Order: sequence, then structure tokens, then C-alpha cells
Amino acid sequence: MNNIIVAENLTKIYDQTTTAVDHLNLTIEEGEIFGLLGPNGAGKSTIILMLLGLTEPTEGKISVAGFNSTREPLKVKSVTGYLPEKVGFYEDMTAYANLFYTAELNRIPYREIPDRIDKALSLVNLSPNKRQKVKTFSKGMKQRLGIADVLIKEPKLVIFDEPTEGLDPKVANQILNTILDLNRENGITFVLSSHQLNMVQKVCARVGIMSHGKLVGEGPIDELGRDIFGGGKYRIEIELARVPDELIAKIKSLPGIISVGVDGSRLSVVCNEDLREDISRTIAKEAIIMTGMDIKQDALEEIYLRYFKEEE
Ligand SMILES: Nc1ncnc2c1ncn2[C@@H]1O[C@H](COP(=O)(O)OP(=O)(O)OP(=O)(O)O)[C@@H](O)[C@H]1O
Ligand SMILES: [Mg+2]
Repeated sequence: MNNIIVAENLTKIYDQTTTAVDHLNLTIEEGEIFGLLGPNGAGKSTIILMLLGLTEPTEGKISVAGFNSTREPLKVKSVTGYLPEKVGFYEDMTAYANLFYTAELNRIPYREIPDRIDKALSLVNLSPNKRQKVKTFSKGMKQRLGIADVLIKEPKLVIFDEPTEGLDPKVANQILNTILDLNRENGITFVLSSHQLNMVQKVCARVGIMSHGKLVGEGPIDELGRDIFGGGKYRIEIELARVPDELIAKIKSLPGIISVGVDGSRLSVVCNEDLREDISRTIAKEAIIMTGMDIKQDALEEIYLRYFKEEE
């Protein structure tokens, strides 16, 4: 695998006071869909701006496809498509005319433009709307046109700021599926910056969690989850009338249990399978009343909440 994005010690201090990005080290491989997560002000957009060569790092560097973003921004631009949070189109022009304009701006040879537009529109399922004015488009259609707009230049990498913001779940899913298809079929690498965790979780195999300019967690979603759940995929929480030591020992000896924590009348059992039945049976055998049982999965939501618990 080739690294498409490499950030080394990447730092941005605005006005000599605000550290927006703080000695970031991050590598993204070609063909990945990477999710950049974090609350407002965490530094996500600043990373993207440095990646695109639109602002200079105070320290460290970032490169895209081997090109230094600060020194070779035009080369970076030639391989990167960027979708800002709000894509602007000429509302009174057709989808086709808008894309034609983008193609011209990107200096695509004239004879290639019609084919590229058709290909891009077909990839986002907007071929039938080619001659329609953009002002008649729904939000989801505009978002898809935004994707077509960056596909015109056949990028290796697409940076997408808040891809599903403001879209209803059905349209959001269409956008995510489009991203997945483009990744699988055309090998395009995506970096998605988002607050919408459940959305990111659907398409990103790996995420980076930003907080105050630092990467506080990074890795495949399931591994991040496992770290938090003490090495297991699930955490089962049980409320009991009483918690005798023999019971704890019995639960610990069940096959598949990784650990058992006790906090007053509450047990917290970490395991890699859903062992609720086995545990319930063990508790019943001891004739102990169970007042509650809950299973938590390593959902990204949990991971995220855990990281930002203190900040909210
Ligand atoms: N041009 C600027 N001048 C001064 N400070 C800035 C500038 N741009 C961003 N900042 C500050 O840098 C920090 C990081 O901002 P950034 O926009 O990168 O965060 P973000 O993660 O993209 O947030 P959001 O989720 O709200 O888009 C914030 O404290 C912000 O106020
Ligand atoms: Mg931002």
C-alpha cells in the first residue's frame, strides 16, 4: 500500500496564540476511506487547509501523493478534489453548464470535457438531470452534483467536509453509498470530516479523533472500541440485588469472559461474544435477583462520547 497523505509534526498556530493543530503525525493510505472526527474547533478544517496548501503550517509538513502541500500546492490540487461544506453552483445554469465551467477552470482539454461530464454525472446518478437548472435541484441532488464537480478532474483523493450535514437519512445514505462505490470501483481515497458519527461509521474503516489540535485516538473503529472496552467487543452491565464473591468467580470462569469488574451492586463484564444467556443462567443458579442487564457494543458513538465526555 502507498501512503497518499503523510503529516509529520504538523502544527498550526494562528496569531501566535491559538494552537489549532498540535504536532500531528498521521498517515493515510491510498484506497482508504478515512474519517476525521472531532468537536467544533478541534482542528479538522485547519488540517484540510494545510493539506490543500491554502494555509502554511507553523511547523512540520504535510504531503499528498508525494507532493509537499506548501511548496507544490498546484500539484496537490491536480490530484485532490475538495468538497467544502457548502458547494456553490450557478443556480440559473444547468448541471451540465456548471460542470463545464469547472472543467474549464481545471484546464481540462475541450474535446475531453463532454465525456468527463457524462461519466461524472452517471457516477452520481444525475445523468437524467443533466439539462436541468441547478435551482430546481434538491439538497441531496446538489450534494451529488458537488461530488460530480470534483470527479471531473479525476482525482486520486477526495476531501469531503461534512458529507451528510443537513441531509435526511435516506439522502445521506445515498451519498455514503456513492462514496463507497467510488472507492471500490475507482479506487478513490476519501477523507471525510464529520460530527455525524453514525454516518462516518457506515463507510470509514479507520478514523482519527481530534481534540484541541491533537489526535487523541486513531485506528480501525473496532480496535478503538476494543481498547475502550478493556480488550473485548462487548460490555455487559448487570444490576444485582447482591454480589457474592462466589458469583463473580463463577462468571469469570465462564468460557469467553475477558474480565469482570464490580462496582457496588453493578457488574461490568467484558467479552467478545454476546454471553448474556450464559451469565443470566449462572446468576439464576445462585438464586440472586437480577434487576437489570444491558449490553453495550463498541459503537463509534460510545468511543466518541468517551473521548469527549469531559468537554461537554
Ligand atoms: N483563520 C483563523 N484565525 C484564527 N484562528 C482560527 C482560524 N481558523 C481557525 N481558527 C481556530 O483554530 C481552531 C481550530 O479550528 P478549525 O476550524 O480547524 O476546527 P474544526 O475542527 O474544523 O471545527 P468545526 O467542526 O467547527 O468545523 C479553533 O480554535 C478556531 O477558532
Ligand atoms: Mg471545520
